[in-house]
Formats: sequence, structure tokens, C-alpha cells
Amino acid sequence: MMSEELRKAREFEAAYGPQIPESERPLFHVTAGVGWLNDPNGFSVYRGEYHLFYQYHPYSTRWGPMHWGHLKTQDFVKWERLPVALAPDCDYDRAGCWSGGALELPDGRQLLMYTGRRTQEENGREVAYQTQCLAVGDGRDYQKYEGNPVLTAENLPSGASPYDFRDPKIWREPDGTYHAVTVTRMEDGGGAVLLYASDDGFAWRFERVLTRCRNEYGTMWECPDFFSLDGQQVIFVSPMEMRPMGLEFHVGYGAVYMLGRYHQGDGAFSRETVRSLDYGLDFYAAQTLETLDGRRVMIAWMQNWATVACQTHGARCFGEMTIPRELSIRDGQLIQNPVRELERYRVNPVIYRDILLTEEISLEGVRGRVLDMTVSVAPTSGNGYRAFKVRVAKDGEREIAVQYTPDDGVITLDRSRCGAAYDITNVRKFLARRRDGELKLRFIMDRHSLELFVNDGEQAASLLLYAPESAEGLTFEAEGGIVRMNIEKYGLEVP
Ligand code: FRU
Repeated sequence: MMSEELRKAREFEAAYGPQIPESERPLFHVTAGVGWLNDPNGFSVYRGEYHLFYQYHPYSTRWGPMHWGHLKTQDFVKWERLPVALAPDCDYDRAGCWSGGALELPDGRQLLMYTGRRTQEENGREVAYQTQCLAVGDGRDYQKYEGNPVLTAENLPSGASPYDFRDPKIWREPDGTYHAVTVTRMEDGGGAVLLYASDDGFAWRFERVLTRCRNEYGTMWECPDFFSLDGQQVIFVSPMEMRPMGLEFHVGYGAVYMLGRYHQGDGAFSRETVRSLDYGLDFYAAQTLETLDGRRVMIAWMQNWATVACQTHGARCFGEMTIPRELSIRDGQLIQNPVRELERYRVNPVIYRDILLTEEISLEGVRGRVLDMTVSVAPTSGNGYRAFKVRVAKDGEREIAVQYTPDDGVITLDRSRCGAAYDITNVRKFLARRRDGELKLRFIMDRHSLELFVNDGEQAASLLLYAPESAEGLTFEAEGGIVRMNIEKYGLEVP
């Protein structure tokens, strides 16, 4: 039986989603059916396809009582929309079906685990409890489990808060057991990642605290993930209220990865490396899956909570995901690159070799707002240079500048003139390495976003840009010297 709330959300989406012209959406990045989108949820394989759910408020472009929107894909580029999967229609999730995960059960059903948020009045004020709940379905329609909630305050370690207990990511181990990681807030105000286990996916038990913030990386943590990759264990969290640390972490909402060691039975995760997952302005709540051919692929919300006020007037949907990215570990560092499937959609190659660059130039065939472009630069023999600059989405008034200064090794992203009407953070700097004197930058642009990949994925930086699509100029410039530049630029077409 479908609840009134779910029926209404599905009808609303079916009525108003198709009215949004495709030209108002990015070409290959995931957006909401209609209305608001935040975190990716339940990114997982089901019946040989990749499913993605998302935090969804169909009725407006602002956050509200959360539903789960739903899509699927075979190649992470072309997506098929499916009807709203979950609505907040039970006592335990009336205040929202918050973030969570999904997996395929051995009997062929799909299991979703999400955070049910419930509010009640206590001593004259409203308090909100968070518990973990299940829904089971066939890849399209879901029934909430009669045993909900399956993880409550009783399954928390001492000192953990039942008001901040959320975002379960679930997976099935090769031995058939199930695991989940969630976040909570400990008595010192800092976040922690908790590990849970289950034999059947329905009855869950607390295992251990995997790792705690201890006031090192922000306060509360959100949206954890935990997986092994190239012989290491990796944890993702999105911390709130980060303090800046050099150019590695910036103030506010962040997204970090931790590399370390963890042996089941041995106790906690030993944290060895902690770094930013993305060095741009808009990135949060990353989640991964393992593809059918064994790749670890990540997707994230290309936004952060501090920039959500920046909305285009009259737009009928808000929020988009990053391009899914393949992950690996090289030299103790997480490497991320756009999924290789994107290359199948490249058209119209434009190639330039050995351009000797000084003052600002544009190049025949190199412009546009939907593109995949790799630029590499190196100083000409013996000569240094002060700065290398690429400007995109450029017209007489607007531009987004990406600058590299070799003396301090800093990349600066500057969207202060990108057309945003709000005083959001517009400049971000981070440290990049040059390899044998060469710097390589890959630009993925999809109308209102830019994802930059540095040196074959050593770093990524994502940001939204608000310039109208008519601003499609691209220029290159070297200051204080001559650089040798190669360009390989493709358009992207998704039929
Ligand atoms: C992160 C988050 C999650 C929560 C969801 C609610 O962006 O705050 O912790 O489950 O969004 O929409």
C-alpha cells in the first residue's frame, strides 16, 4: 500500500519535473526530479545496474521534510529517473527520511537503510531524535520494514547522542555478513564513526567506535563511508565547523578522507593520513560503491550548506551531484578521476601542441560550457614564470579564473566575477605539486559547474559557477615568463 505522502510526492514530481526544460539542467550531472536535492544516498549496485538515491524535497527549492529521490544508470553518465522512493510517512520518520545506504539482498530484493527523524515536545521545546530504519523493495517501490527503527539510542555507546545519530552506509561482506557505519556526536561535541554488524541485514548490533573527532577535524561529522582500497582502509566523513589548517582544510563544512589500518577484532581504526577530499568550493557528503568490474567510484553533492542561499531566481530545481569519480591510492594519497565512461561521450577533439604562451590568448575551437579539456604547462628551457592562468565562462563581464603560481605551488580558484548575486565564498587556494616541472589540469565543465583534476587526479576541486551559458570564452595566459602549453579539448554530447 502506498502512503498518501508518497503518492502525493510521486504525482507532484510527475506533473512538474517534465516541465523543467533540459536546457535548465546540466547535461550529465544528476539533478533532482523537481525541487531541492542534497546528499547522495544508497549509491549501490542492484540487478546489474547502479542506483542512486538522494535527499529530496520536491515541493520547493529549499530544504524541507526529506524524501528519497531515485535514479539509475549503467555508465554514470546517462541516468534514468525513477519515482520518489521514500516519503516521511511514519511516526519514526515524520520529520524526514535522512541520508543512508542501500544494497542487494541475496534473495534479489533491495534493502535501504536510512535515518528516520522524529520530533517531539519535551519540557516546552521541540527535540528531534534520529534512529536507523529499513525499507525493502524491487528497485522501484519500497515498503518500510515493520520492525523499524532497527537502531535506536539503545544501540549507542555511552556518551553518544541520540539527537545526532545518522547517515548509515551499508554493505555486505564477501562472507555474507552485513555492516553499517553511522555518525554520532560524542559528549565532547565532536563526531564519531560507529560500526554496526548484522547477520541478515535486519537485526543489527553495535560493534565499536571506529574513529573519533576529538576536536581535531571540525565538530559533528556527517555522511560516513568505510571501505578498503589498494591495501588500505579508507574512511570518509563530512565535518561541520572545520577550522582552517594551512591550505589543506578551510573553515566551515569540509569533506575529508582518512587512510589507516583496521583489522576486524583488533579494535579501532588507526588514522594515518587525513586530507581534504576535494579542494574546491562546492563538495559535501561523498558516498562510494564498488562497480561490477571492481572499481571504487565516488559521488558527492556539488554544494555545501554555506552556499545554498545562492539560488538562481525562478529556477525549479536546485542542487546537483559531482561527476562520479574512480578512486585509487598512489603514494599514500587518494587519487580521483572522472569515470572512464565519460570518454565515450567526447566529440570534436581540438588539439594544440607546444604553444609558447605569454600574454592572454584564446584559441580557435577552444570555448564552451560543456567540455572535457586537459591542459599541461611547463616552463620553457631554463626560464621560470610567475603565474599561469586559465579563465573559463568568460565574456566581457564575467569569468572564473584558475591560477597556478609555481614559486609557492598554489592553485587559486576565483569565481568572484562568475555572476553570483550573493556574497558567498568565492576564492579558494590549495597546494599542488608539479611533476618534473609540468603541471596538468583537466577541466570538466557542465554548464554551471567546473570540476578540476590536478596531475591525473592527485587533487580535485569542484565549484559551481553562476554565469549565464552565453559566457563561454576561454583564455590562457602566462605572466613573468614563457610557458610551453599542450591542450586536448573535447566537447561532450549525451544523446
Ligand atoms: C548532510 C546531512 C545529513 C543528513 C541530511 C539531511 O548534508 O545533514 O547528515 O542526513 O543532510 O538532509
